[in-house]
Amino acid sequence: MFPRGFAWGAATAAYQIEGGWQADGRGASIWDTFCHGTGRVWGDQNGDVSCNSYELWEEDLKCILRLGLTHYRLSVSWARLLPEGTTQRVNHKGVQYYNKLIDGLLAARVTPMVTLYHFDLPQALQDRGGWKSPDIAALFDGYARFCFQTFGDRVKLWITINEPYVCAKLGHEDGVHAPGLKEPGVAAYLAGHNMLRAHASAWHSYHSIFRPKQKGLVSLGLNSDWSEPLDRDRAEDIAAAQRSIAFTLGWFAWPVFVTGDYPEVMRTCIEANGRKHNYAGESRLPFFSKDEPAVLGTADFFALNYYTSRKVTTAGGRLDSLSVKSDVDVQEVVDPSWPICGVSWLAVVPDGLRKLLSYIKKNFGDPAIYITENGFAQVGPLEMRDVQRAEFYKQTISEVAKAITEDGVNVCGYFAWSLMDNFEWADGYSARFGLFHVDFSHEKRTRTIYHSGKEYAKLIQKAQC
Ligand code: GAL
Repeated sequence: MFPRGFAWGAATAAYQIEGGWQADGRGASIWDTFCHGTGRVWGDQNGDVSCNSYELWEEDLKCILRLGLTHYRLSVSWARLLPEGTTQRVNHKGVQYYNKLIDGLLAARVTPMVTLYHFDLPQALQDRGGWKSPDIAALFDGYARFCFQTFGDRVKLWITINEPYVCAKLGHEDGVHAPGLKEPGVAAYLAGHNMLRAHASAWHSYHSIFRPKQKGLVSLGLNSDWSEPLDRDRAEDIAAAQRSIAFTLGWFAWPVFVTGDYPEVMRTCIEANGRKHNYAGESRLPFFSKDEPAVLGTADFFALNYYTSRKVTTAGGRLDSLSVKSDVDVQEVVDPSWPICGVSWLAVVPDGLRKLLSYIKKNFGDPAIYITENGFAQVGPLEMRDVQRAEFYKQTISEVAKAITEDGVNVCGYFAWSLMDNFEWADGYSARFGLFHVDFSHEKRTRTIYHSGKEYAKLIQKAQC
């Protein structure tokens, strides 16, 4: 059912697994600063040590081999490579670390997919305005070029920025992710805009300077829930579902894959809500400049992170504020028939992924799609025999198979989130997403395969026969 060469992977991110936060000259990132404050993360936990993959990367490699993965998605830490964020000072120990890891993967015949930015901005650049500053696009481009130059002889699959939606909204509007800003209705759109500018600059650099020789592919990692109308026959609910997807996936995918600008419905909603609140400043949703590298066409494949679905209806103007939430004006409902896994936001809806894949095929020009994240968390009593998660993967992967064979979607790969339990952002270590259990109380951070890991390995093996 799966095409030859289909990528079977698992994903991780630097801050969530590496630890070694001060090792060998790594600079601080915004997540170090965020976690070292109080009252922000579950139990005031942090990623100082986490899975200690900085020292134990060979243990990770063993896990990857045990699963029989063909691909592994990792992220490199900007502040580990460039402690102040710029190429003026390179941390050669950081370069060595990723060289060892990449070479280790290749020697084991595992293809690396590398994310340049997974939420962890160098603190030194946050001090210069972070994602709200227009200068960040050129700074990111400098970092991206450095990575292409240093690792691009061996890495052929790149993600520039992971989940710009989450960085923009949770980091700059809700304040529940680093840098913890709560500036509703303005900062998220500005930060998101600069992420798109940064991504576009890096894609153009790769395309003109590195691609001719390195021949790799570059995209950005986009997350989206699947939204469907609460009442399929009600026009308001249908419109609410369209708005909801436009304000998550469309926000970043529309400029890159369709028009070079944001979805029209975002502009109209944001302007209308601004008028309602007598907002007199410049447009809260910035415009792309014709003098800068075009954002349209800057993805060589579609990278999708899917976790959950929602039924939606109109909020009818009840969320009365100048905020993204109020701009989109949608009320979300979790269908009572959908089981909730460990974390409260994650209702398990495997067929939502199939629907979202068809939506992407239809609206974004039938691109090659990698599902770069999808997973299920355990919270509370720990079960090594995690049958629910095993069942979740089985069902979800069967929906992916249907998307390929019945709907003709060009899916090229699937990456489970995550290889092993790790630091789950504001939830700390309370939510376990791993295919391997990690003993965080033990110095060796022992990794032990869960039942779901064994089942995922079997599934990969079967799919390749
Ligand atoms: C994504 C994120 C991952 C991981 C996952 C599970 O938003 O990219 O880092 O934490 O969610 O919540």
